[in-house]
Amino acid sequence: MAHSGKTLRVGMIGCGVVGSEVARLLVANADDLSARSGAKLELVKISVRDISISRPGIPKELFTTDSKAIVNDPNIDLVIEVMGGIEPAYELILTAMKNGKAVVTANKALLAKFGSELFHASDEADVDFYYEAAVAGAIPILRPLAESLVGDHVERVMGIINGTTNYILTKMDETGASFDSALKEAQGLGYAEADPTADIEAFDAAAKAAILAGLAFHTVVTDADVYREGISKITSDDVAVAKEMGFTIKLLAVAEANDDESITVRVHPTLIPRTHPLAAVREAFNAVFVKCESAGELMFYGRGAGGTPTASAILGDLVAVARNRIEGSLGPTETDYAHLKIAPIGSTRTRYSIRMDVKDIPGVLASVANVFAANDVSILTVRQDGRGADAELIVLTHLATESSLADTVKQLQKLDTVKHVTSVIRVEGTV
Ligand code: HSE
Repeated sequence: MAHSGKTLRVGMIGCGVVGSEVARLLVANADDLSARSGAKLELVKISVRDISISRPGIPKELFTTDSKAIVNDPNIDLVIEVMGGIEPAYELILTAMKNGKAVVTANKALLAKFGSELFHASDEADVDFYYEAAVAGAIPILRPLAESLVGDHVERVMGIINGTTNYILTKMDETGASFDSALKEAQGLGYAEADPTADIEAFDAAAKAAILAGLAFHTVVTDADVYREGISKITSDDVAVAKEMGFTIKLLAVAEANDDESITVRVHPTLIPRTHPLAAVREAFNAVFVKCESAGELMFYGRGAGGTPTASAILGDLVAVARNRIEGSLGPTETDYAHLKIAPIGSTRTRYSIRMDVKDIPGVLASVANVFAANDVSILTVRQDGRGADAELIVLTHLATESSLADTVKQLQKLDTVKHVTSVIRVEGTV
């Protein structure tokens, strides 16, 4: 591609961990980025809440507290939004688009709520809207779904798409740490926020799952459509028992097509065999499995969070939109023509591990097995560990619907022989 000799002016909204890396790399790699874009990319303004914070390596005169000035500046061609959150990011992006600016964002929460509105706004304004960094950080997964695999038929997307929870679960598995101490360690390393709710309660993963599902199944999917369960109730006992049985626990996001023209999108802790490729995804790494009708299975792996990895995805998008602008073209837009129904979680069929403390007396197994049978939940294996006068039973089931399983657990809790049901965790694959 010949260099156009043109300059494209870039404005950035937000300058936190990711934004400061984007700014640093834009300056440090200016020549390469210019050669690859076909235009000089000049960072001309960055809006921040507090100008007085020191941001080494970024010229002070670029900073403003006025984000509106960026989206309304007629000299700015491309806008990078890395402030996060819903408002004012949503309004600012819409204004930037209306003003003819291409937009690159990493804002998963916003896309998971208003993705459809943003895609339509960019179509209407004839501008590019790219957001590779919003899911799984540095890993190219959105463009492969939207472009490379768009001729195929996606059947399932499954992955680890939150680095913080994967770090916590890795530490619990490898060192026997409690949830609280693994969380503290993750906070110490800067993975988990002071308020870790978005990560540990899986809001972050659910937003990313909604974005993946929308692209994979050409359907509008929002975060409200995603069944979500976090990892805060996972105990070191759950992890130890899983390990003894040949499993590890991961927070998995699963988006899958069902037989009846519906899809299910869910995020929850899951037992996977230690031999499963996703079990080898350790610490803050992410990985996404995609299963397609023709391509078969593909796996994407890499760093899902952090300043430089996320900046890599943002700069990739920036070069792409700059090339399009120089060529007078636009990248592909999202399609939501399929309008698939989102199936309720109750109808989802998965396998389960149910741990319960029971009285160690004759007839206990029979009483427990009866409850499973009465709810049409077939048992795969039962394991019993003696605990003095009591015992722990761990039942692994065949595929069962969420609603049958919920009824089973309710009835187990009412049995005289069952002291309490300790945990119910879904299972993928067999050991
Ligand atoms: N907090 C996220 C994670 C990174 O831990 O994966 C940004 O999405």
